This record gives sequence, C-alpha cells and structure tokens, in this order.
Amino acid sequence: MKIGVPREVWPGECRVAASPANVKRLQKLGFSVQVETGAGLAASFDDDSYRNVGAQIVDGAAAIWEQSDIVIKVRAPMPHPDLGTHEADLLREGGTLISFIWPGQEEELVQKLASRKATVLAMDCVPRITRAQKLDALSSMANIAGYRAVLEAAHHFGSFFTGQMTAAGKVPPARVLVVGAGVAGLSAIGAARGLGAIVRAFDTRPVVEEQVQSMGAEFLTIEMEEDGAGSGGYAKQMSQAFIDAEHALFEEQAGEIDIIITTAVIPGKPAPLLITEQAVKNMKPGSVIVDLAAERGGNTAGAVADQVVQSHGVTIIGYTDLPSRMARVSSELYGNNICHLLDDMGGAEEYRVDEDDEVVRGTLVLRDGEMKWPAQVKELPEEQMKAKGADPSDFVAKAAAEKKDHGPWMLLLIGLALIAVGWSGDSGFLHQVSVFVLSCFIGYQVVWNVSASLHTPLMSVTNAISGIIIVGGMLQMGGSLEEPATVLGVIAVLFATINITGGFLVTQRMLKMFQG
Ligand code: NAI
Repeated sequence: MKIGVPREVWPGECRVAASPANVKRLQKLGFSVQVETGAGLAASFDDDSYRNVGAQIVDGAAAIWEQSDIVIKVRAPMPHPDLGTHEADLLREGGTLISFIWPGQEEELVQKLASRKATVLAMDCVPRITRAQKLDALSSMANIAGYRAVLEAAHHFGSFFTGQMTAAGKVPPARVLVVGAGVAGLSAIGAARGLGAIVRAFDTRPVVEEQVQSMGAEFLTIEMEEDGAGSGGYAKQMSQAFIDAEHALFEEQAGEIDIIITTAVIPGKPAPLLITEQAVKNMKPGSVIVDLAAERGGNTAGAVADQVVQSHGVTIIGYTDLPSRMARVSSELYGNNICHLLDDMGGAEEYRVDEDDEVVRGTLVLRDGEMKWPAQVKELPEEQMKAKGADPSDFVAKAAAEKKDHGPWMLLLIGLALIAVGWSGDSGFLHQVSVFVLSCFIGYQVVWNVSASLHTPLMSVTNAISGIIIVGGMLQMGGSLEEPATVLGVIAVLFATINITGGFLVTQRMLKMFQG
C-alpha cells in the first residue's frame, strides 16, 4: 500500500505529516512511502533525507494525491494555491485521507470528501482515552504549544525569567500565571519553571492541583465550591458566579504578575473570557499575555488571533500556529501519532478500518463516502443530534452515564446466580459462590469508582486493580508454602507490587518530561 505525503499549502504552515524517521516506521509497517518534492523543507527535512530512508520523491501535488492509497496531511484539505483545485478533489476516488479535519466546523469539506467516496480519519477526533494516548495528536501539539508560548513570552518580555544578583544590581524573578492546567498549561508551567520563573496556576478542576504543585508551581484557589471536572478528563462549563470569582482573582493577581499564559477551554464551546480589560490594565507596563485560546475567541480581552497587539502597555500574543513554529519536533511527533494509528489499523499487511475498535471508530469521519461522525451522536437526544457540530463533552458525559448504568445489570446477574445456586441445594457451594459474586461486585465498584487524579485514568485504575490483588494475595499467604493457594498468593502480591511501583515510576518520568 502506498502512503503519500503532500506539501502543506496552508499559508505559513511549516509542519509536514511525516519526518524521515516516521517514513522508516511506516516502511516497517509494510507501507511504501512517497513524499512531494520540498514537503519537509520548512521543517528542516530536505528531499535527500527522505530519499536516504527509501522514500520516493514525487514532483507535484496532483501526482502524489492521485498515486497514493492513503494520503497523510497536517492541515485539513483546502484550495491548492498553485493548481487552482481543491485538495479534496485531488484525492483519488475511494482513497483514504488521514489529517486534522475538524468535521464539526468543516461541513462543506466533509461533503466534498464524501462525494469522492473517501475514507477519512480525523486526527482531531482521536478519543481521549488511555489506549489512544500514543495517537493523541491534539495533546502532542498542545504540549509543544505550551512550551512555545513561554518562549514567545520570553521573547517579548524585557527581563530575565530567573532572578539575578549581579554587581550592577538585583533583578527579581519573573512571575508567571498559567490559567488552565491541561496539556498545554502543564507544559507551559514546566517550561517557565525550567527558566527559573515563579509560577502560579489556576484550573477549575481541583484534581490537577497535585500535578501543578509537583511541578513546583503554586495552585491558586477561589472561595467557591464548584468542581470543573467533567467526564473523561475534560472540563465542564462553569457557572457565571464562578467565572465572576475568577475575574476578581485574576484582576487581583495581575498587579503582581509579569506574564500570563491562558489555555482555558471546554470542548465544543467558545473559550471563556477570563482576563478582563481591568486585569490587563492592572498589569505593569511591559508585561506579556500569551492567549493560546485566541483561535477559539480568546481567554483575554483584546486578544486577536494570529496577531501581537498592545493594550494598556501590555503585549498580548494571539498566535494560533505555535506548533508550526517548532515544525521539526511537531512534525516528528505528529508523524508518530499517525504511525501508531496505522499500526493500530493492522499496518499494510492486515490493514482494515475496524469499526469495533473504539479508537478507529472515534476517529472515523467518512467510510467510502458514508458519514460516520460523530461516532456516538446517534445515541444522543434528538435536539443534540440536530445541533450543528456535536459536542464531545456531551458524548463523554453520555458514555460515562452508560458506564455507570452497568450497576443494576451486575446486581441482577448476582441475584440470578444466587437463585440458580440456591436451587442446586448445596449450601457449601452456595456460600463459595456468594463470596465470589460479592467480591466481583465490590471489586468492580471499587475499581470503576476510583477518581482519576492524573491526566488519564490509567494509573489510578491499574493501581486500584493491583491493590485489590495484593489484599487478596495477602489473605492467601498464611498457609504453608506447599499449598498451591499460598504460592499463588505470593506470586500475586509480587507481580501486583511490581505493577504499582512501575506505575509510580512511569508517572514520575511523565511528570519529569513536563518539568524539562
Ligand atoms: P485541555 O483540555 O487539556 O486543557 C484545558 C484546561 O482548561 C483544562 O484543564 C480545563 O480544566 C481548563 N479550564 C476550562 N475552563 C476553565 C476556566 N474557566 N478557568 C480555568 N481553567 C479552565 O486543552 P489543551 O490540549 O491543553 O489545549 C489548550 C488550548 O490550547 C486549546 O484552546 C487549544 O486549542 C489551544 N492550542 C493552541 C495552539 C496555538 O498554537 N495557539 C496549539 C495547540 C493548542
């Protein structure tokens, strides 16, 4: 199967969908790869670097789109500036496209691709679940954006980040406030701390407090009981009273803060306005605000998408292309995300669009021209289905509600099992089965009600399972080592302990990656 990598035509876009290292990985998965001439130049990958790893260099966009079974791209298809044709029309009939698509906003584009009978997988629709982390392109790009936001702020800020004591005088450290401690926010905290700044952060989800503190930043709070944690690790919309309290907090903080980095968003909603004009006025002249949410309306009064503006002596940066400003690493990581997706889909040998795979299903927008997005919308209430562009937070909430619905079914099963065994008349056996069924029930409730205090629930859930195994194993360890139950208990305790310790080590490594 042939994969094609065209040159990005979005003005100023420097990324490319596959680096030479990614090409090697794709070849290992059994694909042959062709790259358009000059596709990687803006990301510092010249044609020879692709040739050296065995890619074929193809001249011209039309040829690459036409000759490829799967086209991989960064930006959604758009009118080609040199050919005067829409890129979607260049895709061969029945071809496959993997790219950022934003199907909720790009209805016309999706229809265009549907008319080509295309199969389309949107990298912006990868579900935020543990198994899909390695192909979560939004997170890999947000991580880069958070880091770059700090560098952009440093570029416009007329002083040091770290405090300095020199013969010429004393310079205080910069004070940075990060609003929204999701992927981009945590990355910004890590970068600012790495440069020596004093960092404060605020988020509506109290569960991130520990992560913020573990990175050496102070977590700000407001006197109001409202948890912003929605389902699936996303935030939910806050009440107006809460937003008002945030305004007051940031207006007060602004007087002490030199740099504000805002990253606050709720999926499917415009960005909340958090830094008011009054807060901007309260900042010292020469301060800097980087608004990562500028593309979604902005968290800051006066922020303009893609522009640097001055307001009351404060520089407000609204760049929406931060990952493209670090094109080499963002291309590499985005390409890795695509390699993982194609690996998940069976590589070239066993390539399939498996709708039973929840990652592929969530990502799938069109299959042979048939609309498949959003994956769960058919299960939502009618008025939500009609709403333009389904809201992922609704889907996540629905999925969570469905997950919780399993409880009554479990109880019914337990009841039926007990009645069946009761009928059999063997009381010893009935006792054993009751204990077994009740342990299953309690285990299920304990594991699935663990609150995910990390960005993903992986560690929390696996640690809860391992914890139960350890308790069970220890209860069996009292007897002689000649009894199989004792030996099994020892083995269970050993492996579950390794799993928990390993989990904490991996978490530590992940946090260190952010800390830089
Ligand atoms: P995320 O969903 O991981 O994090 C957003 C955070 O904002 C969450 O922790 C949430 O709890 C918090 N939040 C929501 N409402 C809030 C409120 N009222 N007050 C305080 N915190 C609140 O999102 P991620 O991946 O970190 O992305 C952040 C933003 O960065 C998005 O808008 C994304 O589009 C943008 N982005 C911008 C880029 C650029 O070049 N400018 C590039 C990549 C991402």
